[in-house]
Amino acid sequence: MQPRLRGDQAPAWQALRAHAASPVDLKSAFAADPGRFEAFSQQAPQVFADLSKNRIDGAVQSLLFQLARQCGVEQHRDAMFAGEAINSTEGRAVKHWLLRSPRGASADPDAQLVHATLDAMLDYAERIRADAAITDVVNIGIGGSDLGPQMAVTALQEFVLPGKRFHFVSNVDGHELAAVLRQVRAQSTLFLLASKTFTTIETMTNARSARAWFDAQGGKEVARHFAAITTNVAEAKAFGIGATFGFWDWVGGRYSMWSAIGLPIAIAIGADGFRQLLAGAHEIDQHFAGAPLEQNLPVRLGLLDVWNRNFLGMGSRSIAPYHSALRRLPAYLQQLEMESNGKRVDLQGRPLAAASSPVLWGEPGTNGQHAYFQMLHQGTDVVPVEFIAVSRASHRLERHQELLLANALAQAQALMQGRADPGGHRDFPGNRPSSFLLLDELTPASLGALVALNEHRVFVSGSVWGINSFDQWGVELGKVLATDIAQRLESGDVSGLDASTAGLLRRVRASG
Ligand code: F6P
Repeated sequence: MQPRLRGDQAPAWQALRAHAASPVDLKSAFAADPGRFEAFSQQAPQVFADLSKNRIDGAVQSLLFQLARQCGVEQHRDAMFAGEAINSTEGRAVKHWLLRSPRGASADPDAQLVHATLDAMLDYAERIRADAAITDVVNIGIGGSDLGPQMAVTALQEFVLPGKRFHFVSNVDGHELAAVLRQVRAQSTLFLLASKTFTTIETMTNARSARAWFDAQGGKEVARHFAAITTNVAEAKAFGIGATFGFWDWVGGRYSMWSAIGLPIAIAIGADGFRQLLAGAHEIDQHFAGAPLEQNLPVRLGLLDVWNRNFLGMGSRSIAPYHSALRRLPAYLQQLEMESNGKRVDLQGRPLAAASSPVLWGEPGTNGQHAYFQMLHQGTDVVPVEFIAVSRASHRLERHQELLLANALAQAQALMQGRADPGGHRDFPGNRPSSFLLLDELTPASLGALVALNEHRVFVSGSVWGINSFDQWGVELGKVLATDIAQRLESGDVSGLDASTAGLLRRVRASG
């Protein structure tokens, strides 16, 4: 692939800077343009998005599209869908989209393998669903091997098979595993050991402890109670595991819930439900691959993220899902955005001249309103909020859904319009940006679309920033140092350590 132009070197970048100097006032923009809502909103597959309460206008939007074209975002996208090794620092292709491509739809050489593995995984999931003796499924994994399945099983609780409980153990903190083990019995539990590498210290430690607990409980038939999901099948076999489902190095950990890593989801919602999840994501893949930039929602969102970050100086984005089942979505999106785009050098290893990933954070509404929305309305920092609402509830409790949606709309309105009380504590400055994503219903298909939409928007902003969104070298150093410190905690050797680490280590040992 041709080297692409980095965003800050593209001609449109300077023009956008000039526009940022005379920022859009949202209230005036709405007053001046009755068509603003239509111009800045769009129905994409499964997801409606209103971007009109952002500080953009037609000129900014068209410059952002120019920026994307100048940076070769379309060519980069096409290279991803063509299976090129766009993860250049690891020499890997990026093909999570292939995992949701329907049978026969892709000519990619790995397509058959993907479907054979999917069929085997879903067949296994159905067998576990039919096995009434298994009441508890414990997923042991961390990062991408935890957040996706945990987020999706929580989000799709309405679709989860009654009679089975799902637990997610990620942290090396033994309190987490111990709390789950207190609730389950060896003979009725299935442990899923989920790790792309099968070397991650947290997961391996939890896996060994779960296995020791199982043996100590007199557990029989290990092969029936432990399954592994990994690209490192040899290591899983060495651990003594029977059922092993593989995936491939071209699936990044944070992009892996569509692979066998999604096994807990498949057990929870069934093979049909899992296929609907994939189908919803595939709809967005097709939209991203084919829609012109101007009507391409992941592109519009990714460019908006660049605008907010680089031109309006907004360092974070708050995720506000107005559906309690989406409570793990902010954590999921945090890894997706911050592990993908939290980079300080470009593809050639040169320091970036412009800021990259914002901080993502959030809690479900309306809870967040009674915690940190104060800061969003009146704090000194302007934080764009992304509201995610669902039109139809799956319960029949009166008034709740109306109140929930009313609050979401009212918060977006209040952020935008503010309320004047000059000089007073009750003054709301307003002009605070937000986006509003709306799903008709929370279903496997709409969740799949929502997640894929976010994957591709992260791709777009990463592409403009000229970074590799698919590696994560930044997590390595801490892992290496933790191994060293774990040994020192045992031996008490503090030689060569800085005074703070040495002092803390001594204290921990003395009180431990
Ligand atoms: O440490 C970061 C990371 O490598 C993530 O990218 C990944 O999702 C997580 O750890 C878990 O890795 P694995 O699935 O190999 O255990």
